[in-house]
Amino acid sequence: MRKIQRIAVLTSGGDAPGMNAAIRSVVRSAINEGISVFGINGGFEGLIEGEVMPLSRRSVSNIIQKGGTFLKTSRSESFRHSAGRKRAANVLGEWDISDLIVIGGDGSFHGAHALYAEHNINVIGIPGTIDNDIYGTDLTIGYDTAVHTALDSIDKIRDTAASHDRIFLVEVMGRHAGFIALEAGICGGAEEILVPETETTIDALGDLIKNWSKTGKTSSLIVVAEGHKLGSAYEIAAKLNEIFNIDFHVCVLGHTQRGGSPTATDRLLASRLGFHAVHALMEGKTDVMVGWSNNHVTYTALPDTWEMKKPLDEELLKIYRIISS
Ligand code: F6P
Repeated sequence: MRKIQRIAVLTSGGDAPGMNAAIRSVVRSAINEGISVFGINGGFEGLIEGEVMPLSRRSVSNIIQKGGTFLKTSRSESFRHSAGRKRAANVLGEWDISDLIVIGGDGSFHGAHALYAEHNINVIGIPGTIDNDIYGTDLTIGYDTAVHTALDSIDKIRDTAASHDRIFLVEVMGRHAGFIALEAGICGGAEEILVPETETTIDALGDLIKNWSKTGKTSSLIVVAEGHKLGSAYEIAAKLNEIFNIDFHVCVLGHTQRGGSPTATDRLLASRLGFHAVHALMEGKTDVMVGWSNNHVTYTALPDTWEMKKPLDEELLKIYRIISS
C-alpha cells in the first residue's frame, strides 16, 4: 500500500448527473484514509489557472442528489497542448500533489493519460458521461439519468403524436454512440431507432414508414441518435418530406438530457467508483479507469478506454427490431 498525503479531484468535459455523488465519494473515502483532498475548480482549465481548494467532509454535504458538478467543468483547449499540461503539472507540484482523480469522458481521459505520460502524475479516471461510450465499464455515470430524462420526453411526445396522427423524429444525444437512443427508444416503444452503429438509407426508412400505414398505424416515433450518418433529425425529416407529402415533426431533446437529479443507479455507481478510485491510487495503480462490469470493479488502461470500441447490445438491437411495430 502506498502512503498518500494529498490527492486532487476534478470534473472535466460535458457534465453528467452523478458527478457530484462521485466527488462526494472520493472526498469522504480519501479523508477516511487520512488523505487530504483538494478540488480543482473548472476542470483542466481551472488546473492550469491554479484553481485549487481544500475540500472537507462538509464541503460535499447535500450534493449527492444534485445534477451538474459543483466543481464546475470545462473543455479545455489549452490542455490539449503540452505547454498547458506543463503549467497544470507545475500547479500540482506547487500544492505538493502527485495523485489526481479525473471524472469525465474519453476527452478527459486523453488529458489524464498525457499528464501521467509527460509529468508522471498518478492518475485514475472515473467514467462520467451521459453517452455511455467508454470501453471497460458497463455503465458511465450520468447515462442512466439521461435515459430516464429522454424517456420522459419521448412519452410526452407520444401523447401528442397519437392525438394528431403524426410522425415525430426525436433526436437524442450520444455524440457518436447510440446507447441513449437504443435504450430510451426501446423503453418508449419507438417504431424506429436510428443509431450510428448501424446502417440504413432514406429509401429503407421510407419503405418502413409506408408499411406502418399499411398495418394501420396512425402515428409513430423515430428516435434519432445525434451522430447518425443520415444527418440530424431535421435533415432526415427534410429528406423524408421529399418522399412523402406530409409534415414530419421534429423534437431535439438537447441539453435537457445532461441535467437533473441523478437516478439511484447513477448515485450508487458514482459512490462505488469514487471509493475504488481512491483505493486504486493507494494500491499503486495509475493511468487506469475504474469501472463497473458484471457487478465487479474493473481497471482498464486509460488508452484502452478510447481505443477499444464498446459495442451496442446486439440482443437489444435484435429484440427492438422484432417488437417495435
Ligand atoms: O458527451 C456528452 C455530450 O452531451 C454529447 O452527448 C454531446 O454530443 C456533447 O456532449 C455536447 O457538448 P457541448 O455541451 O459541449 O455542446
